[in-house]
Amino acid sequence: MGYSSSVYKTAADRLFERRLKAERDADRRRKAIYSEIPRVKELEKEISACGIKAARAVIKGNNVQPEIEKLRDKNLVMQKELKDLLASNGYSENVFEPHYICKKCGDTGYYDENGKTLVCSCLKNMLVACACEELNRTAPLALSTFDSFSLDYYDKREDPDLGTSPYIQMSKILAYCRNYAEKFRKNSESLLMKGATGLGKTHLSLAIANEVIKKGFGVIYASAPSLMTRLEKSYFSKSDDDSALNMLIESDLLIIDDLGTEFHGQFSVSLLYNIFNSRMLLNKPIIINTNLTMRELEKIYTERFVSRINGNARKLDFLGDDIRIRRK
Ligand SMILES: Nc1ncnc2c1ncn2[C@@H]1O[C@H](COP(=O)(O)OP(=O)(O)O)[C@@H](O)[C@H]1O
Ligand SMILES: [Mg+2]
Ligand SMILES: [Zn+2]
Repeated sequence: MGYSSSVYKTAADRLFERRLKAERDADRRRKAIYSEIPRVKELEKEISACGIKAARAVIKGNNVQPEIEKLRDKNLVMQKELKDLLASNGYSENVFEPHYICKKCGDTGYYDENGKTLVCSCLKNMLVACACEELNRTAPLALSTFDSFSLDYYDKREDPDLGTSPYIQMSKILAYCRNYAEKFRKNSESLLMKGATGLGKTHLSLAIANEVIKKGFGVIYASAPSLMTRLEKSYFSKSDDDSALNMLIESDLLIIDDLGTEFHGQFSVSLLYNIFNSRMLLNKPIIINTNLTMRELEKIYTERFVSRINGNARKLDFLGDDIRIRRK
């Protein structure tokens, strides 16, 4: 998969920051322990001096075996003293080692296996997250959170047709979405948020996006109209938007807002169908928001398309009265 050079750079910079932080923290721990237990510093110094002496002896040649053995025994005694000393003060013997976030590659992004250097999954994930971030730059992500979502806007009176009140229904949806964001995995289920305008569909999907991004996943939020404009442009110009298209499939979570309000050319319909299909085959979640009924969606996107979504996504029916009007 190709990414723009700025995506590579951002990902590399972030890994470097992680590594640096782990190493600085380790240095800080070492200094603190040195001043708490001065003998630790002495021992470390002697152990390293011991190593240097052994190396010198080897270089000198001749019959060095007895001397090396003596140094090795001395070294083992000191190692043991160091370990015991640390333990009796409540530290593990690898307290001086940096705590890298990725144990596999030590936050370098690469590891060796059978003599080959491979790209670590942590770097791959970081690249996806950075590429998504770049695509989201113009999205209103930061504005909507779970904490700013209030249930006070929803009527507590029961709707006799539905057998529930908007308040109860929306409480359930809010709890569901919070839990969804908290437990998000790469194969979480897809969601279909349905309901009239102004009921908080965009708000809640952005709140999910925020939480999931914080966990380090790659999330793309796109309104269907702007997505279509962008895709049609790149289709006709065959420009550098290839990686944008790739991310629609590669991202860990894709959110398509206002499905059905875009321009419905044959091209956009089939492209969207392809994106959804590819993701479903890979078990990658999508969140779709729409103001339209299933019937209306079918008219635009064919029955097959809509039943595909229906069969693969959990439906959340938003109830209530337009919050933008209630607020006034
Ligand atoms: N429960 C809520 N608490 C606070 N603000 C809300 C709530 N629901 C919606 N809003 C706000 O009302 C406006 C419209 O909501 P929005 O999420 O765009 O609705 P929808 O996507 O369903 O049309 C937005 O500014 C949103 O932040
Ligand atoms: Mg909306
Ligand atoms: Zn790694």
